Amino acid sequence: MAAPSSYLLATLAERLGPKGFTRGAADLDPWLTDWRGRWQGEAAAMLSPASTEEVAFAVRLCADAGVPLVPQGGNTSMVGGATPDESGEALLLSLRRMNRILSVDAETNLAVCEAGVILAALHEAALAEGRRFPLTLGAKGSATIGGLVSTNAGGTQVLRHGTMRRLVAGIEAVLPDGTVFDGLAALKKDNRGYDLTQLLIGAEGTLGVVTAASLKLVPAIGARAVAWIGVADPAAAMKLLRHLEATQREAIESFELVPRNALDLVLAHVPGTRPPLAEPAPWNVLVEAVAPMAMPGPEPLLYDGLGSAHAAGLILDATIAASEAQAEEFWRLRDSISEAERRDGPAVKHDISVAAADMPRFVVEGGAAVEARFPGTGIIAFGHLGDGNIHFNVRAPEGAGPEWVESEGIAVSRLVHDLVTAAGGSISAEHGIGQMKVAELARLGGAARIGALRAIKQALDPRGIMNPGKLVPALDASQDRLAESRPPQ
Ligand code: MLT
Ligand code: ZN
Repeated sequence: MAAPSSYLLATLAERLGPKGFTRGAADLDPWLTDWRGRWQGEAAAMLSPASTEEVAFAVRLCADAGVPLVPQGGNTSMVGGATPDESGEALLLSLRRMNRILSVDAETNLAVCEAGVILAALHEAALAEGRRFPLTLGAKGSATIGGLVSTNAGGTQVLRHGTMRRLVAGIEAVLPDGTVFDGLAALKKDNRGYDLTQLLIGAEGTLGVVTAASLKLVPAIGARAVAWIGVADPAAAMKLLRHLEATQREAIESFELVPRNALDLVLAHVPGTRPPLAEPAPWNVLVEAVAPMAMPGPEPLLYDGLGSAHAAGLILDATIAASEAQAEEFWRLRDSISEAERRDGPAVKHDISVAAADMPRFVVEGGAAVEARFPGTGIIAFGHLGDGNIHFNVRAPEGAGPEWVESEGIAVSRLVHDLVTAAGGSISAEHGIGQMKVAELARLGGAARIGALRAIKQALDPRGIMNPGKLVPALDASQDRLAESRPPQ
């Protein structure tokens, strides 16, 4: 790979115009650091094309010259996936100007969006047509469709609607040689060989640049019921989920596990929050049940389901939000966990999955193993229990500063990832690999997976210009040291 020549920069500047090309430090700076502040990169310029043709032009030029490109949407990656390296050779490729919602069709239940559309804007546009795009997450105010597609984003409605893989009907993308893959048509059946759309979903910008997507919509919500439930342990929570699945007519959208230590952090650090139950429970579950318009609301059925769960000894206590405001309060308790943790002090974060049925045991036994090996630490295990995906964070011992993460973080993560791998799980359930986990993927991914990742990358991007250093472990392991030297936080 090479730094861009002044000729290349001048050609791009001329084609993209002043809105599409900048080298100004003030314009670039906010986009050179990831939002967690863990990664700081450099770039020779930022390209902000306004059309697919402009993206293709830029990619073709960079492919010929061997100049690296780092695609970027809302810059909300949890794993440094959209931050360039420190060499300053790369060009940032911002998709944020391509922010048109091209159509929202209530008859076909499809929306077509350019890559830079912000998730919350799509939510609003769908709602205006009586429809809903059923994927949401904390960063919905800045995360873009292109980034969500490229990272196969998850969130709190995966239980019912799946990750982006299930919600994308088609995509348009510029491949690393500058050709345009036009797969936007929402074909239900298409057997023209390898599924390029699915290959590009979750590819983290390493196989091309997603420029637009056709997305599946569902009917807008008519009513919802949100409950906060106390349970004895994660095993009881899982039994409760099975009980609700059997009694709620597929209405359960979210089933989020919140341990008492996470709730206590939120109550301590987030102003205006209050305990949802009279007696604190060791573990909690936030449940949301929904019904589309013109259907009976979900509350009576949820009330009955929780009543029978209580009679069966599955739950300790429960309360159903009496108003939308209270429902929002419950969600705020859940959504503030990461923020409260950050305010509380250093922790090493993980985003893991095992088979959903095995997760209750993993949380308890894996947690005990980590706490025994690193005395004074405490596990905060929260999140998407119904998906078998838990954010398994390890809090530093009392009084330890950020240097604890620097000295112990890698060893802690290795232990957690070893335990997950031994349990047949994944070291990255929803946040992706980015640059943060590439060394761990190399260590634990297995020869077949890593070999195939490298072969696909080499075939589609032989010069390695697309988002280098992310996702695909380098052949020379020392190239991945960057990731190793920066423990997760
Ligand atoms: C969440 O589910 O709240 C996020 O994915 C977790 C995180 O911030 O680590
Ligand atoms: Zn999550």
